[in-house]
Amino acid sequence: MRILVIGTGYVGTTTIMAFAEMGWKITGLDTDTRKVSMLRKGVLHFYEHGLEDMLVKHLKTGNITFTSDSEQAIKAHDIIFICVGTPSNPDGSADLSYLKKVANEIGHSMNGYKLVINKSTVPVGTLEKVARWIQSSQIEPQTFDVASNPEFLREGNALVDALHPDRIIIGTQSDKAAIQLRELYQSMGCPVMLTTPRTAELIKYASNAFLATKISYINELSRLCDQLGVSIIDVAQGMGLDSRIGHSFLQAGIGFGGSCFPKDVTALIHTAEDLDSDLSILEKVMSVNQSQTMYVLNKARKQLSGFRHRRIALLGLTFKPDTDDMRQSPSLRILDKLLKEQAYVTVHDPVAKLTLDSRRNWKQCKIPEQALQRADAVILCTAWPLYSELDWSRMKHIMNKPNIIDGRNMLDAKLMRSLGFHYQGVGYE
Ligand SMILES: NC(=O)c1ccc[n+]([C@@H]2O[C@H](COP(=O)([O-])OP(=O)(O)OC[C@H]3O[C@@H](n4cnc5c(N)ncnc54)[C@H](O)[C@@H]3O)[C@@H](O)[C@H]2O)c1
Repeated sequence: MRILVIGTGYVGTTTIMAFAEMGWKITGLDTDTRKVSMLRKGVLHFYEHGLEDMLVKHLKTGNITFTSDSEQAIKAHDIIFICVGTPSNPDGSADLSYLKKVANEIGHSMNGYKLVINKSTVPVGTLEKVARWIQSSQIEPQTFDVASNPEFLREGNALVDALHPDRIIIGTQSDKAAIQLRELYQSMGCPVMLTTPRTAELIKYASNAFLATKISYINELSRLCDQLGVSIIDVAQGMGLDSRIGHSFLQAGIGFGGSCFPKDVTALIHTAEDLDSDLSILEKVMSVNQSQTMYVLNKARKQLSGFRHRRIALLGLTFKPDTDDMRQSPSLRILDKLLKEQAYVTVHDPVAKLTLDSRRNWKQCKIPEQALQRADAVILCTAWPLYSELDWSRMKHIMNKPNIIDGRNMLDAKLMRSLGFHYQGVGYE
């Protein structure tokens, strides 16, 4: 099988590595020539543990190649995975313009049978559109099949998730496509669910929306815990011991972010609205998520009686650890609010780099200690292990005031208080 992956972002590149590791020969295609040239040199254009080593390894095995020549690439391959972005439109719906462009390019360049598989997260009914876009841009009629194969990897754990998925969902009306996809994934050893394209598309949104719901639930509950004097960590621990509930996605914090949850929940709400159907639970998930970030920030505001001319250290910019992805990160909402309220902010993140207006009142520091120098408070926004490993007794002496707002409940509250910090976590921590 000659496999082409279109879009070499987080999903496309991880997919390429996973297939290469399974022994398939893959080509990655991207219109961004900078990314293509970096990948060809064995340099990953984003941060994801283990992926760069895999890239170097499979450039050597010859299992992977990269190109930006879409016409030649489409002609030379018969199995095509689409992994382009589907960001939010201003009204919350999914922007399918990248997908449409790719479908048109496939239709235009087809020179024989192709199996086109969409991995991008898309609203129900999109695969039917993809088939129409391919059909309508063909120069000469060619046969093809389409399938939906949503991706469930988590940034920060992408390679492990891609190599050891919990399940593979294949949505197609074509027996031939189903057989080819089963063969492709044969060595995975996980359940494969064969279903309709529409069901596959909804499974992806429904899964992300459910996980986001768990997060907003525990976050809203954490506010009640603050009132009741009950630890949310203990409550979550007790809940998670129930096998029907589980521990994952029950960590109270400053809210979810990233390139998927906010956009996917919003897109699902939009789909429901279009059909006059009610998904009010998800509207609440989004509003709790917004207010949770401000709820945690408010703890710092109260402690300092306002942010004006205060020096705040913000630790962690990415929406979660082990990635450099800052898309929709709650840290950025916090930073924005602090700057608007005239704080001076020193930020640190082990991998992500900010490019803000340099005249504004902030500075990115290379090491956490530098950010903490003379700070009136530190706000922990991302649970990078580096931050719990800091020598906090020393940090106390370099800070102006020993105020910690632990937005991820990652430090030991008792220990911090015993060191003399005024420590506030989320949910009576
Ligand atoms: N990032 C995640 O954790 C994740 C997880 C599961 C699903 N998804 C979904 O997968 C899709 C891709 O996400 P991502 O994070 O990898 O996006 P991304 O923005 O990192 O990558 C998309 C890539 O597509 C390329 N591209 C755009 N138009 C192209 C074209 N015409 N031809 C070739 N390349 C083109 C871009 O240059 C970019 O490199 C989205 O729908 C997303 O919702 C993402």
